[in-house]
Amino acid sequence: MRKNIIAGNWKMNKDLNEAKELIKGIRKGVKKKKVGKNKRVIIAPSFVNLNTAVKRTKKSVVEVAAQNIHEEVNGAYTGEVAANMLTGIGVELVIIGHSERRTYFGETNEVLAKKVDTALRNKLEVIFCFGEQLSDRKSEKHFEVVESQLKESLFHLPKEDYSKIVLAYEPVWAIGTGETATPEQAQDMHAFIRGVLEKQYDKEMADGVSILYGGSVKPANAKEIFSKPDVDGGLIGGASLKKDDFLAIVEAV
Ligand code: PGA
Repeated sequence: MRKNIIAGNWKMNKDLNEAKELIKGIRKGVKKKKVGKNKRVIIAPSFVNLNTAVKRTKKSVVEVAAQNIHEEVNGAYTGEVAANMLTGIGVELVIIGHSERRTYFGETNEVLAKKVDTALRNKLEVIFCFGEQLSDRKSEKHFEVVESQLKESLFHLPKEDYSKIVLAYEPVWAIGTGETATPEQAQDMHAFIRGVLEKQYDKEMADGVSILYGGSVKPANAKEIFSKPDVDGGLIGGASLKKDDFLAIVEAV
């Protein structure tokens, strides 16, 4: 069901002690702010801190996501983590398709389609990331690129599966750069995405999916971006590493 969502992607940051401290701060903060049923707050620490995160958020509304999974269910894949290892420790979500995975680890739309299948089959909810490069936007191919990312990784799914998928539009040129898409640019793309979903599935389905914006969201710009009708929250990188910034963004949605 469509909800407002703030998800913190911690990337390769925070050792165990730092993670414990940040989790504690966020847990206390969301409790004080009385985050209600219409808002979801998600954190995505590194694999090694997931167990701790699950245990320490059990009695709070904070949910825990992994940042990746392997597309196979098990096997000889040294250094990789399987979906059922995550559900086995109580993790309920996974980020798939982050631009850093696409760029540095060569994850293609095709591999991502398999990861999405594996996640859903193993009862993990998916936060699916996609977005264009700066060169795509400059050459006005951004809508086309986004549409094919969705088509090639998600459109084999039946519409029922989208109750377990959150979309995160993240223009690559805005990630970690301090440069944010304008609220209008975000809204235009999110409305386009909903239109593409409606064309492929139907209006009810398109209206029911949460679409997050990601890319240099901070307390100073969050409210304006989230005020747009098709923007249902954010996937937050840098600003999710500081308790006060993250909580301010949670407040803004
Ligand atoms: P950023 O990262 O907020 O640091 O730009 C967003 C993301 O990578 O999800």
